[in-house]
Amino acid sequence: MSTTPAPPRVFSDRMQSARARTGELFALLSPQAVYSRPVPERHRLIFYLGHLEAFDWNLICRKTLGIPSFHPHFDKLFEFGIDPPIGKAAEDQPADWPGVEEVLAYGRRARRVIDDSLDRVPEQLVHVALEHRLMHAETFAYLMHNLPYDQKFGPRIPPVYRNHSLAAEMIDIPDGYTTLGQRAGEFGWDNEFDEHRIQVSAFAVSKYKVTNAAYLNFVEAGASPPHFWAQREGGWFYRGMFAEIPLPLNAPVYVTHRQATAYARWAGKNLLTEAQFHRAAFETPDAEERPYPWENKSGEDNSGGTALPNAPHGNFDFHHWDPVDVDATPGGDSAFGVSELMGNGWEWTSTPFGPFSGFQPFPFYPGYSKNFFDEEHYVLKGASPRTASCFLRRSFRNWFRPDYPYVYASFRLTEN
Ligand SMILES: [Fe+2]
Repeated sequence: MSTTPAPPRVFSDRMQSARARTGELFALLSPQAVYSRPVPERHRLIFYLGHLEAFDWNLICRKTLGIPSFHPHFDKLFEFGIDPPIGKAAEDQPADWPGVEEVLAYGRRARRVIDDSLDRVPEQLVHVALEHRLMHAETFAYLMHNLPYDQKFGPRIPPVYRNHSLAAEMIDIPDGYTTLGQRAGEFGWDNEFDEHRIQVSAFAVSKYKVTNAAYLNFVEAGASPPHFWAQREGGWFYRGMFAEIPLPLNAPVYVTHRQATAYARWAGKNLLTEAQFHRAAFETPDAEERPYPWENKSGEDNSGGTALPNAPHGNFDFHHWDPVDVDATPGGDSAFGVSELMGNGWEWTSTPFGPFSGFQPFPFYPGYSKNFFDEEHYVLKGASPRTASCFLRRSFRNWFRPDYPYVYASFRLTEN
């Protein structure tokens, strides 16, 4: 990755649009929501108002350019998020946090200095700051999802659901190779390196993600319902971002890793491994590789999967607040015919999050991945409705604890 300074114009435009993206989210909150903690294992929302600016400031100005701090207390207070085991919530009180105006003033000053420093910032750090912010645009949505409906203001019109009957279909993927990881010289987070090619034995995979309708059979057989469902007067509802709606039967079910694994076992099947996901998504029957699953080509490059991510390819990049039907975006199908590998919900894999051979932590952010190589987090691939399209690159890896229920995380089934 280049350590030369980023082209200031590109940096500036992308940063402004990422800041607008996260700014929009705060604007949807009621004043009382700002100090609440909608997810017990995460900070109060006020933390994120300071964190995005503190992260950029600490990384770019303080640690890289050596600019003296103007507010050491906030630099530290807003430096890092938390990820305790489920049930071990933090115990701070709203009064322990500063006022909104004070936090906003810190952010404004940090942004001014950051913007004036653009031409001296290495390109790699620009990517880190941008992607860090966009990751939080998604994780903040998970937190907001758990606020009471009267504490957030947004569009109350859900996507259109068809509730038609949908045939379960398994697709055979023959023996072959796939590539994991990012090519040297391209941007990726530390856990995306080194790139390597591995063999994957033949397997069959479900064309669609497991739906709410399919999971309902499991619940009726005694399994506990997902976090995103609510039972009202004998019927099941999906707790959407801004409104509760009758359970959309053909939308993907959002579950924990433990629930996904239990369902797969009940159905006599398995979850995909990380390598199987790559093979189903990015390889072709002609043993070619694609950057993205879909067939569409870019203008200049005549090979499949080169067109940049767009709405017909899947439900990602902030177009919707909630999932759509699993067969709603056939334009994103992979060369093997597997649907929605990118978008409409991350996909749990059975692969524990760990380093690839050659892994080296970023010296400027050593704990980003390494702190989570603990066999207590699992890899997720793909994207959710609230995932920015930059994360659709093949090598990007997401990870969460197996019981963390708040993520837009779906799954599909395999047979070996
Ligand atoms: Fe963060």
